Amino acid sequence: MDPIRIAVALTNMKPESWLAPLQAAFRQRGIAAQFELFNGKPIGARYAIVWQPPAELFARERKLQAIFNVGAGVEGLLALAGLPLDVPVLRLVDAGMAPKMAEYVSFFVARITRGLDRFGGPQALRDWEVDRPRGVLPGIGVMGLGAIGAHIARVLLMTGYPVLGWSRTPKELPGLESFAGAANLKAFLGRANILVNVLPLTYATRDLLNRERFAWLPAHAWVINVGRGGTIVDADLIAALDSGQLAGAVLDVFREEPLPAAHPFWHHDRIIVTPHLSGPTPREPAALQIVEAVERLEAGVAPELLPGFVERARGY
Ligand code: GLV
Repeated sequence: MDPIRIAVALTNMKPESWLAPLQAAFRQRGIAAQFELFNGKPIGARYAIVWQPPAELFARERKLQAIFNVGAGVEGLLALAGLPLDVPVLRLVDAGMAPKMAEYVSFFVARITRGLDRFGGPQALRDWEVDRPRGVLPGIGVMGLGAIGAHIARVLLMTGYPVLGWSRTPKELPGLESFAGAANLKAFLGRANILVNVLPLTYATRDLLNRERFAWLPAHAWVINVGRGGTIVDADLIAALDSGQLAGAVLDVFREEPLPAAHPFWHHDRIIVTPHLSGPTPREPAALQIVEAVERLEAGVAPELLPGFVERARGY
């Protein structure tokens, strides 16, 4: 049997870091595949594996059966003019990102709740008698309860915090107090002393965290953003920090990445900026997800039944 041709178009990523794990995963599963980095010439690809691909890929490759996005977020891909409407798009589901993102969030939760910044650096406190958090623990609100958000919520529950979750549609998780939909956003935010955003960026979540919503949070709340930058209105976040409504923000994702050098987030003393590293995508599990999906598609399974099938109207 001829090998399955797969076009690979990965922008702002090192394609070599993907090719070897992909080849290994397909070999392991006994699927003969030929991977080609897209260079403008069509290869009659049956599948495309992409991150921020050029629209030209879809103009050239007209026989695609599915497009794999090697990330969890598909907002960039869905916004691409030229993305064919009739080819299914699949995205990664967790693929090893969730435990790392949960670790990142728990680390900052510990840092915030214990005031750990007091003990490091040249100004470090050398004092045994400092305040310790006791009694009432802050409520942690997790926005977005997909594979990643649910995992973060579970880890936080295990560390003993009261965790609230908010999602588009109702989700049940043992121990989690769950809120769903726009009608319940105010009640949810009102109890989120630490708000963790894990929402995908869609028409419904863009600019969701604005001036009005920051005012719904308890006074001196913290915001941790590991979802997408476009969910937060940058100027409103800064205003909420400057007014004292928010105590601080930990931001891993931004409207524009890399975050421009002149952006005020870099210089705000109550914002911690990290360069989109909360959940680096491990290549092997991601490659495995792709090969498993290819196997099932080749066996005739409908793409809508596969994990990670993107519903375009919903935006994720
Ligand atoms: C990373 O941000 C991803 O979408 O996987």
